[in-house]
Amino acid sequence: MTESISSGKFITVEGIDGCGKTTQAEFIIETLVDLGKSAKIVREPGGDPISESIRKLLLHAEEAMSDRAEALLMIASRAQLTDKIVLPQIINGAWVVADRYADSTLAYQGGGRGLSVKSLNEINEFGTYTLKPDLTFFIDISVDVANSRMRVERDRIEKEGNDFQQRVRDQYMKLHESEPERVILINGEQSVEEVRAEIWNHIKEKFNL
Ligand SMILES: Nc1ncnc2c1ncn2[C@@H]1O[C@H](COP(=O)(O)OP(=O)(O)OP(=O)(O)O)[C@@H](O)[C@H]1O
Ligand SMILES: [Mg+2]
Repeated sequence: MTESISSGKFITVEGIDGCGKTTQAEFIIETLVDLGKSAKIVREPGGDPISESIRKLLLHAEEAMSDRAEALLMIASRAQLTDKIVLPQIINGAWVVADRYADSTLAYQGGGRGLSVKSLNEINEFGTYTLKPDLTFFIDISVDVANSRMRVERDRIEKEGNDFQQRVRDQYMKLHESEPERVILINGEQSVEEVRAEIWNHIKEKFNL
């Protein structure tokens, strides 16, 4: 089957808090736009008014939140973003770059909180309308380096501490090991420019740009 020339592509950027996801997602968009592509960045949790309301609840709730409620809210926010923004863009032939997506749930609620990765995979499949990224960058840095980069004001999940962040990092590594073709491991402790160049090389090669 030949691929339609107008079919959009979906790239996601993952990694622990402060690894450089937003910095690099913005670079990817900038480079794609320079090439004349229609490209849109989205962030998780969030991205449209309903998802942003869920984001506030998730990141700033004062009361103790059940781990499963957290997982389901994350996935609810993802379903909204996927249905209203990501899928329509891709169907229109645009490129979408997501600053976090389904792998974040496996890493944070699976690795971090200890919920069943198998169950989360199933709920993710439902919440993403079975959409899978064409390419995912796991930007990997140590928890110490992450701490040295993070801003002083932290949200509810960023406050979980070093052991939690380490479990999240370990789970991301497992995802890379189980799907090495899709989940590309990038050493995020290089300079911003080195990380940018490495990511772009992968994109160029994968999509023949
Ligand atoms: N390769 C790098 N080397 C040094 N500093 C970096 C690098 N990449 C990003 N930074 C800096 O680290 C901080 C965190 O980067 P950024 O906001 O892109 O990370 P993030 O993964 O999006 O974080 P969060 O999970 O909190 O959204 C920023 O101040 C950014 O300028
Ligand atoms: Mg960010």
